[in-house]
Amino acid sequence: MFSGRQFCRPRRRVFYIFVFFICNLLFVFLCISEWGYNDLPASELNKSSDHHLDYREFISHTPERPRDLYQYNLSLSDSLGVVRKLPTTRHYRCITQPYNLPPPFESNLSVVISFHNEARSMLLRTIVSLLIRTPEDYLHELIILDDGSEDVTLLDDLKRWMGSVFWARDHLGLILRRNPRRMGLIWSRNRGASLASGYYVLFLDSHCEVNEGWLEPLLERLALNPHLAVSPLLDPIDPTTLSYRKGSELLKGGFDWSLHFHWLKRQLANHEHPEMPYQSPVFAGGVLMMSREWFLKLGSFNSFLKIWGGESIELAIKLWLCGGQIEIVPCSRIGHIFRRRHAFDFPPQFDQELSSAQETYLHNSKIIAESWLDEYKNMFYALRPAARRIPLDHTYDEMQKLRRELQCHPFEWYLRHVSSELRMHFDELSATGTLRNEDRCLHATQNDTHLILANCYRGDITQWSMLGNSGQLANQREYCLGVGFRSQIILEPCGRNESTRKSQRWMRLGTQLLHAETHMCLDNPLKDRLEMSTCRSNAASQSFQFALEMERQT
Ligand SMILES: *[C@@H]1O[C@H](CO)[C@@H](O)[C@H](O)[C@H]1NC(C)=O
Ligand SMILES: *[C@@H]1O[C@H](CO)[C@@H](O)[C@H](O)[C@H]1NC(C)=O
Ligand SMILES: *[C@@H]1O[C@H](CO)[C@@H](O)[C@H](O)[C@H]1NC(C)=O
Ligand SMILES: *[C@@H]1O[C@H](CO)[C@@H](O)[C@H](O)[C@H]1NC(C)=O
Ligand SMILES: *[C@@H]1O[C@H](CO)[C@@H](O)[C@H](O)[C@H]1NC(C)=O
Repeated sequence: MFSGRQFCRPRRRVFYIFVFFICNLLFVFLCISEWGYNDLPASELNKSSDHHLDYREFISHTPERPRDLYQYNLSLSDSLGVVRKLPTTRHYRCITQPYNLPPPFESNLSVVISFHNEARSMLLRTIVSLLIRTPEDYLHELIILDDGSEDVTLLDDLKRWMGSVFWARDHLGLILRRNPRRMGLIWSRNRGASLASGYYVLFLDSHCEVNEGWLEPLLERLALNPHLAVSPLLDPIDPTTLSYRKGSELLKGGFDWSLHFHWLKRQLANHEHPEMPYQSPVFAGGVLMMSREWFLKLGSFNSFLKIWGGESIELAIKLWLCGGQIEIVPCSRIGHIFRRRHAFDFPPQFDQELSSAQETYLHNSKIIAESWLDEYKNMFYALRPAARRIPLDHTYDEMQKLRRELQCHPFEWYLRHVSSELRMHFDELSATGTLRNEDRCLHATQNDTHLILANCYRGDITQWSMLGNSGQLANQREYCLGVGFRSQIILEPCGRNESTRKSQRWMRLGTQLLHAETHMCLDNPLKDRLEMSTCRSNAASQSFQFALEMERQT
C-alpha cells in the first residue's frame, strides 16, 4: 500500500500541471479568437447608441456576386471579423529603436481609400486596422471614395457603423463620396487628394491590413526630406487562405522597356541592415505616402491615364526626374492581397484584338512613353508595336510645361542615377522587339515548346532580345533560341555557362541570323517552316528584322 501511494503522487502532480497548462492555453486561445472575431477595444465601443449596427448585420448586406468576383475567399474574409491579430513581420530592431517624430499639427495625415466592388468585410478590415493601429494624433482624416460599386448602400451603412463604433473619435475627419458611375482608380485617388486637408496623403488600397507601428518609420523618413515619397513594405496576404506572410526586404520595384512592373532583387551593401530604408526606382505596389502639397505640385496622378494601370510608374518617374526620391521602409508593414488578376472589368474599347484591359494598359503606357521617355520611347514602341496604333486624344504640351516649370531632368538621368537595371538592359541589347520575316513574325508558344511564324499583330506576339555580349536571342520568359542535334532549331532555357551559351550564340550578317557554332543561317524556305540552312546573301527567306536594331551590325 505504502509503496503504491508513493508511486501515485508524482503522477497526480504531473496531471495537475498538465490541467493548469491546458486551462492557460484555452484562456489565451479564447482571448485571441474573441479579439479576432468581432470585438474592438472597449474604448471604441458605444453599445448604447441607437444607431448601433452590428458587424454581422453590416456584412450581411454584401450583395450576392458570382463566386470568383472578389478574387479572394469571401466567406473566409467574412469569418475573420472586423480585425485580427497579425504576426510581427518587421525586424526586432524596428520595435526597439526610437523614432524622431515631428509634432502632429505639422505632419498629420489624410488617408485616401478608393474602391470598386470590394467586399464589405475586406474594406472594413482595411479601415479598422488603420484606425486602431495609427496614433490618433496623427490621423487627421479618412477619405473613402466608392468608385461606382454595385453595392449602393455600402457608404451609408459604413457611416452608421463608424458612428456607432468610433463615436469617440470626434476630431477624425470622415469624408465619404460616391461616384455614381465608374471613374477609375486614378481619377478617384486624385479626387481624394483634392478633398484632403492633412499635411501628408497616404493612398491605401481597399484590401489591406495595417500592421502595428506602421506610421512612425514612414513619418520619420518623410520629415527629413519634403520631396520624398515612401512605401511601407507590403506583406502578402494569400487570396485563398488569407494567411498573412512576411514580405521580403530584398526586393524593390522596377519596370522594363515595355513599361511593365517587375520586382527587382536588391543587393545589400556591406554591413547594411536589411531593415534600413532603401531607394526604389518605382513604388512596389499601390500604397504610398508623401506630402500632399508636393503631390499636387507634381500634377497628381496623370489625369490622362485611364481607369487603372501605369499610374504609379508615371508618378515614380515624375518624382525622380523632378527632384524627388522614393524609399521603401521595411520597418513599416502593411498586409496586402495581391490578386491573381483584375477583379474588375475594364470598359470595352476600340480594338477587338487586344483585351480591353491590355488596351487600357497600352494606352496608359503610351502616354508615359510620350511624356517622359524622350528618345528612349523608341525602345517602348519596338517592344509594343501595337501601341503605335492607339489614338491619343490630347497633346503633351501640359506635361512639357510641367517638366520645364519643375526643371525636371531628361530621362537619361533616370537611367544613369536611378535604375541601373533598365540602363543595363539597354546597354546589353543589340536588337529587340518582334522578329519579322516577310509578313510573319517568329513566335514562341506560351509553353515555350514550339516555334512558329505568326501574325505580327497578334496581342501576345513574342518579343525577342538579342544580347550584345553573349549573342543570345531570348524571349521574355528567358528562353533562348539554340541549335541542337541534326541542326534542329530549339527553344531552351537561356544558358548561363560557357558550354550552353555556345550553342545559343547568334551573329548578325546584314539582316541574316547566323548561328556561330554551325555557321548556318535561320531560314524560312516554305511558308511557316523554320530550319537552318547554308547562308545565302540576299535570300528573302533568311532575312529577319527586329523592330529595333540598336547598333549597326557588320
Ligand atoms: C454613444 O454615441 C452617441 C452618439 O452616437 C452619444 O450621444 C452617446 O453619448 C454615446 N454614449 C456614451 C456612453 O458615451
Ligand atoms: C473558403 O474558405 C473556406 C474555409 O477555409 C473553405 O471551406 C472554402 O472551400 C473556401 N472557398 C473557396 C472558394 O476557396
Ligand atoms: C493638419 O495639417 C494641416 C496642414 O498642415 C493643418 O492645416 C491642420 O491644422 C492640421 N490639423 C491639426 C488638427 O493639427
Ligand atoms: C504546347 O503548346 C502547343 C501549341 O500551343 C501544343 O501543341 C503542345 O502540345 C503543348 N505542349 C505541352 C507540353 O504542353
Ligand atoms: C551548363 O548548364 C547546363 C544547363 O544549363 C548543364 O546541363 C551543363 O552541365 C552545364 N555545364 C557545365 C560545364 O557546367
